[in-house]
Amino acid sequence: MKKLLALLMTVSCMLTAQAQNGGYTPTPENLKARSEFRDSRFGIFLHWGLYSIFGQGEWYMTNANINHAEYAKVSEAFYPHRFDAAQWVAAIKASGARYICFTSRHHEGFSMWDTKQSDYNIMNTPYGKDVLRMLADECHRQDVKLHLYYSHLDWTREDYPIGRTGRGTGREGRANWAEYYAFMNRQLTELLTNYGEIGAIWFDGVWDHDSDSVPFDWQLEEQYALIHRLQPACLVGNNHHQTPVEGEDIQIFERDVPGENKAGLSGQEISRLPLETCQTMNGMWGYKVVDQNYKSTAELIRLLVRTSAKGANLLLNVGPQPDGTLPATALSRLSEMGEWLAVNGSSIYGTEAGEVVVGDSIVSTRCGNVTYLHVLSDKVKRIEVPFAGKVKRVVAFSDKQRLEYRLRDGKLCIPEINIPEETINYIIEIHKK
Ligand code: GLC
Repeated sequence: MKKLLALLMTVSCMLTAQAQNGGYTPTPENLKARSEFRDSRFGIFLHWGLYSIFGQGEWYMTNANINHAEYAKVSEAFYPHRFDAAQWVAAIKASGARYICFTSRHHEGFSMWDTKQSDYNIMNTPYGKDVLRMLADECHRQDVKLHLYYSHLDWTREDYPIGRTGRGTGREGRANWAEYYAFMNRQLTELLTNYGEIGAIWFDGVWDHDSDSVPFDWQLEEQYALIHRLQPACLVGNNHHQTPVEGEDIQIFERDVPGENKAGLSGQEISRLPLETCQTMNGMWGYKVVDQNYKSTAELIRLLVRTSAKGANLLLNVGPQPDGTLPATALSRLSEMGEWLAVNGSSIYGTEAGEVVVGDSIVSTRCGNVTYLHVLSDKVKRIEVPFAGKVKRVVAFSDKQRLEYRLRDGKLCIPEINIPEETINYIIEIHKK
């Protein structure tokens, strides 16, 4: 009788959860993948496509109003003779990143894999090799998860219903949504069938129809269900700049740490799903020749720390060059971040958002009983922060030396800290009782 009652309660809990979520109940594999994703904290975004050859960023076609048929001619020049998937993945892995998100098809409409759904793909270039296959094989070999970016919008295809971007690319407006939708689903099926385990599908472009007078129906639920049917553990994320909708497994923020909205794309509410912030290393996503405005290693590390302190992952972008190599500056940033993470990673990976935040200079992450205070400025000489709970000890992260502290009226005070000059991030461990 007890067993029956327990079973009934479990079923009713499941039904309630399902009702609260509408129709989508993530599978146990999916929940496991979410928690692994959450623990991984750091990934690298790769924007690689025909646009990389023009060297003007991935929005070039529409920004310069280039006719898509003229633009497509550059596919005849796609020959990244220095591309070496093993080197890319090794450099990314050494940065401490745990996953790669690769642009399988961006807004330009060119597919970076051997797709049977369109001739406009990598096999029909002089290079003629399936770069996604090479990348996927290497990721699996080197144990780095592979996520795939997939654009919902297309500036080249006639069957895509034209939205607010790509109005000058020469399409004639012969939209056929049913045909385009079926095309996308067949492509997604290829991606999720032929390349082994895919950690996530990262959609982008829904905002192309955010100004329509009649709300555009992207039929996302059905598409998400297809993905989950093909690979239940594959996480679905959508860079639609809204709070997540039914069927999504992660929440994406563009160019902002969750809760901040400096770039104007991240005002949406923060959900309880795993979070990810994507950001560029310089200014643009796709390779752009004039864009040498790289953030310093210290800035990037602090960004990773601030993102982790919000309980979010950082997806940091690199734009490969026309010859198939990663820019030298990006490579050196990756290796310096890796050096930092090799020493300080335990305060980042597998942590949650910490309870202590003081402006931009002190943030925190937490793992079990330990709160990691990250002091992001070498100007801080003493610490006084609100802190709930009892403390067992306070130590410096680097040498585990005990630090003197006082806990009074809900405040933790560390009267004296000596942060060596130019420290990127000084970490203090607070062990709770
Ligand atoms: C934006 C851009 C796109 C880029 C993406 C990455 O949505 O349209 O070019 O790939 O952000 O976050």
